[in-house]
This record gives sequence, C-alpha cells and structure tokens, in this order.
Amino acid sequence: MPGRIPQSFINDLIERVDIVEVIDSRVSLKRAGKNLQALCPFHEEKTPSFSVNSEKQFYYCFGCGATGTSLRFLMEYERLEFVEAIETLARIAGVEVPREAGIQKPVDTDLYEILSTADRYYRSVIRDHALSGNAIEYLRDRGVTGVAARDFGIGFAPAGWDGLKSALAQFPENKLVDAGLLVRNDAGRVYDRFRERITFPIRDTRGRVVGFGGRVLGDEKPKYLNSPETEVFQKSRELYGLFEARRALRELPRLLVVEGYMDVVALAQHGVPNVVATLGTATSQAHFEKLFRYTREIVCCFDGDSAGRAAAWKALSSAFPVLHEGRQLRFMFVGEGDDPDTLIRSEGEAKFKQLVEASVSAGDYFFNEIGTGLDLSSMDARARLADLALPLIGKLPNGLYRRMMVERLSQEAQISIAAIEKKVGVSFRTRPSQSTAVPLESKIARKLMGYLLHEPAIAEDLSPEIREELFAASSDTLFSQLLKRVLEQNLTDTSTILASFVGEPAHEVMVGLTTTTPSLAGAALRNEFIDGVHRFIDERSRDAHRALARDLREDDSSERLAVYWKARRATDSGNDFETP
Ligand code: UTP
Ligand code: MN
Repeated sequence: MPGRIPQSFINDLIERVDIVEVIDSRVSLKRAGKNLQALCPFHEEKTPSFSVNSEKQFYYCFGCGATGTSLRFLMEYERLEFVEAIETLARIAGVEVPREAGIQKPVDTDLYEILSTADRYYRSVIRDHALSGNAIEYLRDRGVTGVAARDFGIGFAPAGWDGLKSALAQFPENKLVDAGLLVRNDAGRVYDRFRERITFPIRDTRGRVVGFGGRVLGDEKPKYLNSPETEVFQKSRELYGLFEARRALRELPRLLVVEGYMDVVALAQHGVPNVVATLGTATSQAHFEKLFRYTREIVCCFDGDSAGRAAAWKALSSAFPVLHEGRQLRFMFVGEGDDPDTLIRSEGEAKFKQLVEASVSAGDYFFNEIGTGLDLSSMDARARLADLALPLIGKLPNGLYRRMMVERLSQEAQISIAAIEKKVGVSFRTRPSQSTAVPLESKIARKLMGYLLHEPAIAEDLSPEIREELFAASSDTLFSQLLKRVLEQNLTDTSTILASFVGEPAHEVMVGLTTTTPSLAGAALRNEFIDGVHRFIDERSRDAHRALARDLREDDSSERLAVYWKARRATDSGNDFETP
C-alpha cells in the first residue's frame, strides 16, 4: 500500500491549479457573465447547462446536478481513481506527489518492473520452440488467433523449476517472491510458481502488469493458478480484460462480466471486446464501483449451473449499494455445459449479442429469484417475499431506482409503500456500514452552512461562549465539521474549505451548498448568521429535551426523571417542550 497523500498537499494542489484550465482543455468553455459554460460532458444535452465558477473553483451542471472541484472533474471525466486524479493534477502543477511516511509503507515500484520483465519473458518463451512445448498447438486447438494472443499478451511458463528464476536473476530473489512469481517452500527452497502453463498477464487500468493467471495444457489440477495477492495486486479490485477493453473501445456504454480468462479472450476475438472477468473470486462491490466508472450498464454473464446462479446472486447483493440512478445491472445465463467461450464459438457474434440484449434486468432477476417457489396468492408467501426482499432493498442507495424496487415489492407483496419505506428505513439505520453516510442536517443548519461557505469570515463575530455552545449543539454533524475547519483550522476561503472535504462523503453536500448564493451580503448576512446560530442552538436543545421526554414516557424510572429535571432547569425556556 502506498503512503497516504497529505491532505494539506491535496488542498494546496486544488488551490494551485485553476479549474478553468483543467476543464477548458478537455471540454471547451464559453464565457457567460461571471461563469464559464459548456455542454455538459456528463449527460446528453443540446443547450449548455454545465457551468464553471472560476472564483469558487468548482463546476456545476443545472441539468444533471454533476458538481465538484477540479479533482472530482478529473475522476469523473477521465474516469480516474482518486490517487490517479491527484497525480494528474500534480503533473499539471508540475509538482511531485508527496507520501506520508508511517505505518503504510510506500508501494514497492520495483514490483512493476519485475512483473513487466516476467511478462516479456513468458511471451518470449511461447515463441521459442525449444521451450514452448505444446502451448501454441493448445491455443490453436482452442481457436485462439495470433492477434488475440498478442492483444492479451498470452505467453507460456516453461516446464521445470527455474526458468523464470534464472531468466530474471538480475532481480533480488526476495522481490521475485514478493511479486508472486517465485514460491519459497518450508524447506527454504525457491522455485517458479508458474510451470508449464499458458500465462495470461493481468493488467491494471493503466496497463501495468500486476499479476498472472496460468492454465495447464491438459487435465492436471488445479486447472488455473493465479498470482497471490501482492502489494500491487488485489483480486477483489482487479478485473481481467478491463485495460484491453478500454484500449479497444473509446466508449464503453456496456460491459460484460464473465467468469474466465478464456471467455474474455474468445469474446474479444469474436467481436465482443467490452468484456472483463473476475479472477476466480466473487464479483465484489469494489469491482462494481470500478466498472461503473467506465460504463453505465453491466451485464453479468454467468454459467447456468448452480454455481453460476449462486455467483450471480452474490454479485447482485454486492452491486446493490452502488446502484445509483443511471446505472444498470443485468444478468444472462448460458446453458448447462456451455460458457461464453463455447457459446460464441458455436453460435457466433450476432446470436451472442442477441442473448446479451435479452438479458434480464437486476429487478426482474431479483424478484424472480426471491419469488421462486412462492405462491403469491397466499398471504404467508407474500409476507415471506417481503421478508426476503426488504434487507436487500434496504441496501440500495436512496433514489429513483430504490423507489422503483419499493413500488414493485409493494405490488407483488401487496403491502403499502409507506410500510415498506418504514421497514427499509429502519433496516437502513441499524446497518453499521451506514455510519459513513452523510447525516441529514436540519433546514436551519443547511442555511447556516451555506452562509459560512460563502463568507467564512462571518464566523469571526461569534463570541467564545456562543462558539462553545454551538459546538456542543452541533456535535457529530456536518455543520460541526464545517465549523471546525473554519474556526479551528482557520480555513478562510470557499475553495480551500471545499478542498479540505475532498475524498469525504460530505464533499458533495458542501459543494451543493455552495451552488446557491445567499440573497444577503455584508452586514446583513453577518446579522442573519448570528441570529440563525442562536435559533439553531435553541432548536437543538429543544430537540434534546423532546427526546428525553419521550424516553421518560416509556420508562419513567426516577433516575431518568432526575436527568430530565436537571436538564430542564438548565434551560431558560421552561414551557417550550412537551412534559413527560
Ligand atoms: P472455469 O473452471 O469455469 O474454467 O473457471 P474456464 O474459464 O471455462 O476455463 P477453460 O475454458 O477450461 O480454460 C473460471 C475461472 O475461475 C478461475 C479462473 O479465473 C478461471 O478463468 N479458476 C478456475 C481458478 O482460479 N482456478 C481453477 O482451478 C479453476
Ligand atoms: Mn471454458
């Protein structure tokens, strides 16, 4: 794992690089008053609703709501990961990305060089008649063309124990072990991991080789051997063929996920290059997140046997938390005894593409699966359906898609939407992983946050006592996070504050709040802010009392009563809340 990039560097970088420069070199901008405009690169449109605010250094689309800083723009537009986007910004600024020392040691970049040397070695072996054995013949028998073999860098690990070990002797043995290429056994003997196997290099999205898959030529076991997880290779994140798919196609409106290396190669060779495979592991949430950065639609194409069905169901539940609006997930199953490789060879490209078109939506698949064996004319069965569906629907992010699923469950199970929403809402709150979600702020808090983001200096007018009360009243909210940055870290302008939230769930909310300009300015804004802060503190303490009063109604042990009266005495307004 690489060391952390210091937050201060990221803030500084976003400050330093002009968002206008970043966006204008990718989407051409036209001046419109104070802002710059363009056709939105994130949705289809005829009149420009994408605008860049150069003063506040963010973009906003009035059509689709896309918004963020230069960093976010690079991530979305160039489909970069966070760190890659920072590296791109750093290149624009002409600076090096520093890494914090600490527990996380920086990634050993030697591993990339070693793996790429190994890749060249395996590819040279397959061309070497003395070493390649039956490899070429095997590939020919399976119908792999020379072009496909070249595009995917297919190679061969020779028989014997030390082909690679001696070919890569210029590197320290330990590093070859770290790279997953050599194995050290208990007796301390070190030898080649891949022996007499066809090799498939696994490349990351930047095209760097991070590992290999290796297939035997015959029926020996295991059929496939994969690189172990290393510093540069995590199976739950990498996808075989993603680099090649992106290289083959400029746009990827749809991506297929299959199970095997050979499926990817065969499909690509037969006119379906928009395909990736997991690496002998389940399709994880991280996989979906990664793929949805490149495409809007994913079609999982699994074997029709029970293992394939189980894999599909698992994939569905991993995908649910990332099924935001505009993202589509579909499923197709190939018949018993077939896989995508054999299917496209026997049926051809056109037929295969028809089958992809006929894949079922995640929604249909979901309700089919949970409804299997249930006779929905009985009330028990409908209740069972709801029981099965609710926890999963609760995983969906709030939005149109979830709404649709709730409506559908309401129809199928004949329960009211309100009842479902209530249950889903509850299961949402009780799920621990939700704790990273952005908490909802009250209307007044949002208003104050908006003021503060526009004019951070207004916080200077708060007296020390009020600051203290405000922190107490806003504990654990976004508002308090924002206050801390303004009052404790002394961030004094909008873009620096926004930048300090980059990479946190709150970032979008903050950017969203910056997009409306308060109707007040100057002294009027300051006064309104101070007034609002007082109202906010009052509101929060009233809420606290109400909650306490409610608890007491349910359990009026004397201990609780004492707490209640103590709290009540501590406030000046005695009649503003309900009595127990
Ligand atoms: P399959 O067993 O379905 O094989 O494995 P396949 O892809 O059809 O292989 P061919 O056509 O016989 O060559 C699917 C995937 O599961 C992983 C590999 O990633 C493989 O591509 N796998 C399979 C392993 O990791 N180890 C194994 O022993 C078998
Ligand atoms: Mn196969």
